[in-house]
Amino acid sequence: MTMLFQAIEQRRKEFGSALTVVGHHYQAEDVIVHTDIRGDSLELARKTAEVRSDYIMFCGVYFMAESAALLAREGQQVHLPEPSSECSMALMSPPAAVEGVLEALSQGGRNIVPLTYVNSTLAVKAVVGRFGGAVCTSANARTMLEWALNQGDAVLFLPDRNLGMNTADLLGIPDAERHQVDIRRRGGAVDRTRADKARLLLWPGHCSIHTHFTTAQVEAVRKAHPEAKIVVHPECTPEVVRACDGAGSTSWLIRYADELPDGERLFIGTEINLVRRLAAQHKGRISILPLTESSCPHMAQTTEERLAAALEALQAALDTGEDSPFLVRVPEELKAPARAALERMLDVCK
Ligand code: 13P
Ligand code: SF4
Repeated sequence: MTMLFQAIEQRRKEFGSALTVVGHHYQAEDVIVHTDIRGDSLELARKTAEVRSDYIMFCGVYFMAESAALLAREGQQVHLPEPSSECSMALMSPPAAVEGVLEALSQGGRNIVPLTYVNSTLAVKAVVGRFGGAVCTSANARTMLEWALNQGDAVLFLPDRNLGMNTADLLGIPDAERHQVDIRRRGGAVDRTRADKARLLLWPGHCSIHTHFTTAQVEAVRKAHPEAKIVVHPECTPEVVRACDGAGSTSWLIRYADELPDGERLFIGTEINLVRRLAAQHKGRISILPLTESSCPHMAQTTEERLAAALEALQAALDTGEDSPFLVRVPEELKAPARAALERMLDVCK
């Protein structure tokens, strides 16, 4: 046991039920061992909303902690051990561009319902909430896209084009009814003639960690291990997803490994920390390997050192009566519309 491990555990013991440490499955092993709750994005949104402790230490990326802060109870605080840990995909949809594109798409009188992946900033969730839309995660994208299609004439899915395309494949939405929007010039470059014919409008964002997986890697595995199963996260491209045996959120990937019969070989295409953890958990029962190694630098910004520092800062803040620099704040004016978008998801997917 290292000094850092002991220091964190000591602080957790001192805080007792006043503190809950939560972490996403992509966190490194030396961070995730300190968590009370771990999960995928949907599970974390649901579970943190139920947490009663005064302080939530969120080991993940900024948008996740922001969502937790939004759903927090009166007086409850959410802290993020590394406040600069921004998901690069979330930054691919600036709120002003989203608003401009939605206005441009609505000009012909069509009711465009925005559906934002939870991997987006709170400001984007607020725009989506104001336009009557909702949030989704990779675990409920299919249900939420069906819901959004029933609310209006077309859906703007953002920011992850790949999750949008993979979900459209599951729902059988033909290519002719999909259109990738030109997001330049805050909506000024939208091609209305093409957009007006589409039921699904896709924002051109992507996750660089999951677009690292290729069909060439899938083909190489199929050749070397024809008996092996291959599963990936739906942030991978549709070509990769179609070439694999299945795709799903991080909790779906965990369940898939759990349910695989003894002696099987499984290749997983997602963030390497989760793949390594599953490989260690199932060692001796099934063999789990990465499709290729791909790690998320934003998730990796939260280290054991940062977690220890954030816990120290929380204690110091309580001693002095000042706010900790790790406290996540939600601008007052964004609260109601962003909460509306998140709560629509939580209501639809009870
Ligand atoms: P899920 O845990 O919801 O599958 O999300 C994956 C991811 O990329 C989080 O940033
Ligand atoms: Fe963002 Fe991709 Fe990292 Fe998830 S894995 S936090 S989507 S960059």
